[in-house]
Parts: sequence; C-alpha cells; structure tokens
Amino acid sequence: MGQDRDNAISPERVQPEYGRQKDLTESESGISFSPELEFLSGSNHFLPLWSFMRYLTISCSLNPNSRSRILAQQAHQRLQTTESEATWLDLTEIELPMCDGAACYQVPAVQQVSRMIAEAQGILVAVPIYNFDVNAAAKNLVELTGEGWEDKVVGFLCAAGAMNSYMSVMSFANSLMFDFRSVIVPRFVYADKSAFTDDTLTDPKIIHRVNELADTLVRFTTALKQ
Ligand SMILES: Cc1cc2nc3c(=O)[nH]c(=O)nc-3n(C[C@H](O)[C@H](O)[C@H](O)COP(=O)(O)O)c2cc1C
Repeated sequence: MGQDRDNAISPERVQPEYGRQKDLTESESGISFSPELEFLSGSNHFLPLWSFMRYLTISCSLNPNSRSRILAQQAHQRLQTTESEATWLDLTEIELPMCDGAACYQVPAVQQVSRMIAEAQGILVAVPIYNFDVNAAAKNLVELTGEGWEDKVVGFLCAAGAMNSYMSVMSFANSLMFDFRSVIVPRFVYADKSAFTDDTLTDPKIIHRVNELADTLVRFTTALKQ
C-alpha cells in the first residue's frame, strides 16, 4: 500500500492561490519535461487515443480501523487488474495541513497530492460519513488540491453508521461538479457495518458493487477520452 505513489511523474503545476492551479513554463518551474513523459502528463491534451490511463484511489478516513479504507482497498485491487496504472493515496500516510488558502499550497506534501490528482484520469474517493457529509479530511483535500480535479471522472465509496445518511455524499459531489466540472459516476457505493466481519468486507452485494464501481470508472474514463 502506498508504493505506487512513487510512480508519480514529474511535477508540472503548483498552487499559487486559492485552490487554483496555473500552468508553468519550464523556466518558471525549474522542471524540465522530457518529450517521452509529456504525453503521460496530467494535462490531458497530450494523451493519445490509445490511451494510457491512470486511476487513483483515495482513502480519506483518518481512523486506523476505517471501513471505508477496506472498500477503497477492494476497489484499488480491482483497478490493478486493468491494463492501466492504479495508484493509491491514504490520507493517514501523508501529513497535510489544513487549507488556509495561502501558504498551504507551498507545502511539499500538498504539491505531491495535487500532482497525483492532476495526473489521474479517474479517481475513486473513499469517505467516512460524518454529520451527514463527507469527513473534513476529504473536504480539506479538495480545498488543498483545487483544479487538479478538473474534468476528472470521480466515483465514491462511503462507509457510514446507518443507511439513513445515504445522500450525504451529494454536496461533496455537487461541489466537484460545479467547481471543477468533474464527471461523477452516478451510482456510488454505500456500506454500513453490516457489510463487514471484523476488518474484512464480507457482504457479496457490496463486494459486487465495489467492483462494479471500479469497472464503471474505467468505462466512463475510457469513453470520455475517445
Ligand atoms: C464524528 C462522526 C460523525 C458521524 N456521523 C454520521 C452520520 O451523520 N451518519 C452516519 O450514518 N454515520 C455517521 N458516523 C458513523 C461513521 O460514518 C462510521 O463509523 C463509518 O464507519 C466511518 O467511516 P470509517 O470507518 O471509514 O472511518 C459518524 C461517525 C463519527 C465519528
């Protein structure tokens, strides 16, 4: 877990101001881009139609015994069976500051996660439901990474205490749609504790739903790049 993060390709963007990213020239950024890597970059303009894809699964719970992380692991495993690259980000494994809309964008960890998001074409976000919303760490991640989410295909895996919070992910989904024109996979995964036995996902329906979500993410992402 986490090892795929090292595959991140050279940085091309930084966050100069509130949630917004700016394309920098080579001389501005001090980073030189090799032509071989350019077509793999986060800027979709360079993606050829035969299509290299990178999928990113983000586990947003900060609970060491998180259930949404188990959902995320199942989805990540499914994405690893595709011919594309499956990358992994667990917010417990990286120390991110709270978004202050200013100096936070210069923090190396923030630039690292921004890059991972910018370089993915499809993203699965696994979230705990807190107070009828996603947890604050998920919201903070979006505040920190801003336009990296632009035009991405995004799907959700939610762990909750009860079924009555089913719609809770929608305001987060709406913010991605309105702010960044993310394309949301409309059918998301929602599981309460009955889907798990200890730290294992055991409900066959939820396992099926997680795999189906990963497959749908691939299908949407591929179709939108054609
Ligand atoms: C602060 C807090 C608020 C919560 N609010 C809700 C809620 O509004 N609706 C719900 O169904 N469960 C709620 N829960 C239960 C969590 O969604 C549940 O424990 C879930 O497993 C958390 O995801 P995680 O295991 O990945 O951390 C809350 C839990 C906490 C700690």
